[in-house]
Amino acid sequence: MKLAEAKKRAEELRKTISEHNHRYYILNKPVISDFEFDILLSELKTIEKNFPGLITPDSPTMRVGSDLTEEFRQAEHTWPMLSLGNTYSTDEVNEFGERVRKALGYEPEYVCELKYDGVSISLTYEDGRLARAVTRGDGNVGDDVTINVRTVRSIPVKITASGAPEMFVIRGEIYLPRKGFEKMNADRQSRGEALFANPRNAAAGTIKLLDPRIVASRPLDCYLYYLLGGQLPADNHYDNLMAARSWGFRISDIMQKCAGMEEVIRFVSAWENERKRLPYDTDGVVIKVNSLEAQKALGNTAKTPRWAIAYKYAAEQALTELISVDFQVGRTGNVTPVANLRPVLLAGTTVRRATLHNSDQIEMLGLHYGDTVIIEKGGEIIPKIVEVDTSRRAKGTEPVTFPEKCPECGTPLIRAEGEANHYCPNYLHCPPQITRRIIHFVSRKAMDIEGLGEETIELLYSRGLIRNVADLYDLKQDQLASLERLGNKSASNIITGLAASLTAPWHRKLFALGIRHVGETVAKTLAAGFPDIDTLMKATEEQLCSLPEIGPRISTSVREYFSDPDNIKIIRRLRAAGLSFEGTIRTAAAKGPLNGKTVVVSGTFKGFTRDELKAAIEAAGGRNAGSVSGSTSFIVAGNDMGPAKRARAAELGIPIITEEEFIRMIKE
Ligand code: IVH
Repeated sequence: MKLAEAKKRAEELRKTISEHNHRYYILNKPVISDFEFDILLSELKTIEKNFPGLITPDSPTMRVGSDLTEEFRQAEHTWPMLSLGNTYSTDEVNEFGERVRKALGYEPEYVCELKYDGVSISLTYEDGRLARAVTRGDGNVGDDVTINVRTVRSIPVKITASGAPEMFVIRGEIYLPRKGFEKMNADRQSRGEALFANPRNAAAGTIKLLDPRIVASRPLDCYLYYLLGGQLPADNHYDNLMAARSWGFRISDIMQKCAGMEEVIRFVSAWENERKRLPYDTDGVVIKVNSLEAQKALGNTAKTPRWAIAYKYAAEQALTELISVDFQVGRTGNVTPVANLRPVLLAGTTVRRATLHNSDQIEMLGLHYGDTVIIEKGGEIIPKIVEVDTSRRAKGTEPVTFPEKCPECGTPLIRAEGEANHYCPNYLHCPPQITRRIIHFVSRKAMDIEGLGEETIELLYSRGLIRNVADLYDLKQDQLASLERLGNKSASNIITGLAASLTAPWHRKLFALGIRHVGETVAKTLAAGFPDIDTLMKATEEQLCSLPEIGPRISTSVREYFSDPDNIKIIRRLRAAGLSFEGTIRTAAAKGPLNGKTVVVSGTFKGFTRDELKAAIEAAGGRNAGSVSGSTSFIVAGNDMGPAKRARAAELGIPIITEEEFIRMIKE
């Protein structure tokens, strides 16, 4: 390779690698496997090795990836959070053993553990209490997610056992057990929300949520695997973890001391298949030198320790043929490509379809119809295409292209800036959008209308009896009874079901409307924040965003929905049919000391982060608002309260209380 060529390729690789890092760490939506990522990285490393002049300080080879986001306060790691070198073959594991032996001058004892597939977390304990929980971030600084980690039941917030040092750090992996993940995705599907690709993404997405109540509702769990500190109980990793277990930490039983590389490799092969029976995902084995002194002697490189390595199991793959691609239009108009494959056996099930996520994915794969493709099943529910075997491509085959028009109604598709998905904007007249919206409206978690299932909705639509949800309430018993497949009894069930639905709670009616980005939880938040649809319709962006978990994306969508005259017409008709869009939503703490109070938080606090303070307000039954207005009950002011807020409060005569006064108030 010539220098010019190497330079060009290195630049390309850096760009691609950064994009994948962004997808992995920030969007939690990786489109390539770790293995493919490592191939890109190692190609770049080879170029940089051959042409050292091409190394740039910001090259991805110089740093670990970053999961930093803007929403959380950042905290520095006392000890940097390194990542691990990856190996994919026993040869490479042996090479690692060889390097260690050479550096130490003897063969040390190793500890083998499973590599849990979740998100790493660093927990700092001070005086027996969980002081901080921080994500890896860029390895030096991470996001302070303490408020969320406190909801993980297996992580002790207080250590009661004796023997633990005054201050220590313990690191581990937060993950979502497979069952919990499946249930969570099933719930999301029933609400028409985007599914998480696998338990790891779901765990990563959850730990970064801004509402700890939602975090608490998801069954996160944690295994701890690394103890750090000034006064550790033992001089080796294994015994330190045993001590941590006696202090109440969850340490896996699947951990083995190995006398040498042969035993290590036996552990690796023993768990290759056995691990699939575990209720959580693992993707490899971590091999660590046991003695802390030996660890110290071996030291670290900039990114990884020299005393530990990961062995990654190959994901299960199969080769098959791409027959066709369906572009499915969902309730909110999202267009999702789904590959139809020649049926093939993969990890015990016959696979006929694979997800293609979006147009980026199709482009990245360079997919043609009739291609031989490699499909992979990791923790994912639906397998994905990871690679195309272009050597087997027949001549003259057509590339798969994303349609420019909606495959159902012909309307030109739209792709919003910064979003990966295309959607059909023909909200009112695109048939699958209409029927899926109506199906959503009647579904169990929305209006819960008995007797109206998917098939009946399709039938009513095809007969021209319904075009929108308001039409449902105009249906007449004899009209329904005269349809084949229905009959008198079903018809009367539907009419009764429709009548009964009139009294559904306000938040379920709101959810039923199917506003883009308004799932069950968001609907509840909105309904709790606005007593009726009239106030919600008039809500400003600021008012919407003052609610927990509501940001510009949701508020824009809500405002757009209510600015559409067709939607207003439907709401008016629903109201005329007897649906009232109002009610008081009782949150868990509807009877708390701050019941009915609207509170504004300003400045920084000693005992709470702002999020923690806001959560405390809600837990006490209060409502958070982002700005001072006539409806503000009081302001909790910390240090550096903004002068504008102070002036506005004085102008409106709104009381300002201190952090201490607030604590007394909620304790009452
Ligand atoms: S030890 C310095 N042990 O794998 C050693 N890591 O790329 C620190 N992981 O960031 C890591 N299971 O999130 C260790 N049993 C285990 C692990 C484990 C999963 C993750 C961890 C780390 C990544 C390495």
